[in-house]
Amino acid sequence: PTFDEFEGRGVWRYNAALPFEVGVTLPEGDTPLHEAPRLREDIGVDKLRIKHEGMNPTGSFKDRGMTVGVRVAKELGVGRLACASTGNTSAALAAYGARGGMETLVLLPSGKVAAGKIAQASLHDARILEVDGNFDSCLDIVQELAARGEAYLLNSLNPFRLEGQKTIGFEILEAHYEDYGEYPDRIVLPVGNAGNTSALYKAFRELVQSGSLDEDQVPKLTGVQAEGAAPMVEAVREGNDEVRRWEHVETKATAIRIGNPVNAPKALPGIRNTGGTAVAVTDEEITDAQRDLAGEGIGVEPASAASVAGLRKLRQSGEISADESVVCLTTGHLLKDPDAAFAAGDDPEPVPNDTEAVIDHLHE
Ligand code: F0G
Repeated sequence: PTFDEFEGRGVWRYNAALPFEVGVTLPEGDTPLHEAPRLREDIGVDKLRIKHEGMNPTGSFKDRGMTVGVRVAKELGVGRLACASTGNTSAALAAYGARGGMETLVLLPSGKVAAGKIAQASLHDARILEVDGNFDSCLDIVQELAARGEAYLLNSLNPFRLEGQKTIGFEILEAHYEDYGEYPDRIVLPVGNAGNTSALYKAFRELVQSGSLDEDQVPKLTGVQAEGAAPMVEAVREGNDEVRRWEHVETKATAIRIGNPVNAPKALPGIRNTGGTAVAVTDEEITDAQRDLAGEGIGVEPASAASVAGLRKLRQSGEISADESVVCLTTGHLLKDPDAAFAAGDDPEPVPNDTEAVIDHLHE
């Protein structure tokens, strides 16, 4: 396929708001906006939709950023692309780097990246460095490498990544309006480095500034973090202007095991100015939400389920009212983290190689 073939599809349908006509594409975007009737009933909101970003080519929203970022890198003619990652960014960078015929380097926190993500980075031929530290240290190092000219940085500090991720916001508004004749009141999303929060806010600002959206139609941006890695929640709840770096972070939702959200200066105003909020959830609440989503046929990795866990919590506390129309963002696919899926799901039952025995087993 040539670049031209995919022009105007998915992310690139919104190229009027992007720096190029088309990028290095697989193609990405155009992800489903699901109904979740049982979950909606159970949580107690009138309108709930799930925007499943796990349906992108490498299984996470990162593809939307990489299609733009890797195109920029190609224009610049840089030699080596690099990122620090809790896993998904590395998978996306490896795939888009391969697509663009470029060398990729990824720095991962040793022992803290889900199997599916390392498998992707490995097969798409990234050079993988496992760092004896957490994600935040990996990002410190890769920023240094970029500053010293060793590599071109493709973390969400790269503004072109966020340009691509704006299209999540465009797609949600467009699809929601087409399907339901109104915009959502609120978008609930998991927060790690707060790149998506920043990108969605920028998307909405641009729509308001271009006269396409009224100020009061901007959805309330609501961030969710795991309790063991919740510096953004701390800042929002305490009304701080700056986010304090957490040195020690822990959560089973390894994608958002981040103590120093580098996009916080852009994301905090996004949450505040839209009238949103932030909330922390336990690993148990995340796993419950992952099961709930799976029960609707929507397979997500733990970090993604944080959005639904957060909605439930804010509904219970009364911070979100029943009559709101809510979109939860699920950021990564179930297969990214098979170990978490096995742990949350039921075990297979061994049976003899015999029909009668199988029937007996079913009737037990
Ligand atoms: N959900 C998933 C599945 C992620 O992989 C990430 C971030 C987030 C949510 C948080 O998004 O940073 O925009 O607030 N993953 C990065 C990575 C850090 O390296 O894959 P954010």
